[in-house]
Amino acid sequence: MLSVKSLNTEYKTQKGPAVRAAQDVSFEVPKGSFFTLLGPSGCGKTTTLRSIAGLERPTSGEISVSGRVVYSSAQGIFVPPNRRNFGMVFQSYAIWPHMTVFANAAFPLEVRKNKGTRAQIRDKVMSVLNAVGLDHLADRDATKLSGGQQQRLALARALVMEPELLLLDEPLSNLDAKLRDRMRFELKRIQRDLGLTTVYVTHDQGEALALSHEIAVMNEGRVVQIGSPTAIYDHPTSKFVADFIGTSNFVEATVLGYDESSKFYTVRCVLGDIKAVSLANIAKDSKVTISVRPEDVELSEAPAPEGKLLNLCSGTVDNKVFLGDIVDFQVKVNGFVMQARSHPSLTTPVGGTLNIRMDPRKCVALPEGAAADIKAA
Ligand SMILES: Nc1ncnc2c1ncn2[C@@H]1O[C@H](COP(=O)(O)OP(=O)(O)O)[C@@H](O)[C@H]1O
Ligand SMILES: [Mg+2]
Repeated sequence: MLSVKSLNTEYKTQKGPAVRAAQDVSFEVPKGSFFTLLGPSGCGKTTTLRSIAGLERPTSGEISVSGRVVYSSAQGIFVPPNRRNFGMVFQSYAIWPHMTVFANAAFPLEVRKNKGTRAQIRDKVMSVLNAVGLDHLADRDATKLSGGQQQRLALARALVMEPELLLLDEPLSNLDAKLRDRMRFELKRIQRDLGLTTVYVTHDQGEALALSHEIAVMNEGRVVQIGSPTAIYDHPTSKFVADFIGTSNFVEATVLGYDESSKFYTVRCVLGDIKAVSLANIAKDSKVTISVRPEDVELSEAPAPEGKLLNLCSGTVDNKVFLGDIVDFQVKVNGFVMQARSHPSLTTPVGGTLNIRMDPRKCVALPEGAAADIKAA
């Protein structure tokens, strides 16, 4: 559906070199799916989205939608934004005051050349207001809406043109935390019900994991990993991704060998000799970082069950924090502090000894340097 190939977008500056805001960005978004650009502030998400919209003119690359090329440096094509027929909602959406909810949503249709009859406009507007749950407020003054309702109105206004592609740039960031959580579900429902092909921009990893079919993680203008939420979470290909998406323990290690039949690497680290997985091919004796999530570090006072292939070690409780339904432990193993997430039934006090077990499949070996070109399966 949407295809972005080797996109580069730069900003000229008064003095000094141009800012290379998007560098060699490539991804495909299938029809009807929810695709998210995720990364820290300044990594080039907005630039990429604005380039798709035609609000920025890239320096090179190609963008096509359903086979229609809207930008190509090679072919010299640049379709202006108003002729791309994409719906857009930005962080700072503007609701027009002195207009009703209905008039706000109808506006994009009213300014169109072939706008159709009154009745056709009315049907279209009421159907999008219905989709975002504002149909009962159609006659209300738009300024008399709550923040969440204004947000939904901005969405309705983007949807009324029946765009083939919906572009959303941090549309929930102006809302308070509770409303944001609710709108997240609403947005997902609307996207699914209407089968909208969506490109969503956020710096919030929880939001990205909750909403997306696929996520492209960006850093410093480049896409560093593309994959489903679970692939990105379970199999990060770089320390950057492992660190940005959730929290992780990072343990320096040296590769001792690889077992072809089990597909496990054996590595030596402060925890002992343990087994780990990797999507990359790593040579013997090379340095790696083992990433393991706190929820995958299993703690127990009892010894490990026999017969299971597990990475085992033991340590001393250094600190613990009770969070209601879970307890975060910090366990010191040979001077290294491991973060572990446990059930509150584990009541071992600070200073007590605990056995640590880790599923080798959850211990991900990350090669030195950027493993940026490996895509998670
Ligand atoms: N209009 C502009 N002129 C110059 N530099 C810009 C402009 N817009 C963005 N940038 C720079 O481009 C980089 C990417 O910005 P942006 O795409 O807005 O990132 P994000 O949306 O991920 O926070 C940043 O370094 C930013 O400072
Ligand atoms: Mg931005």
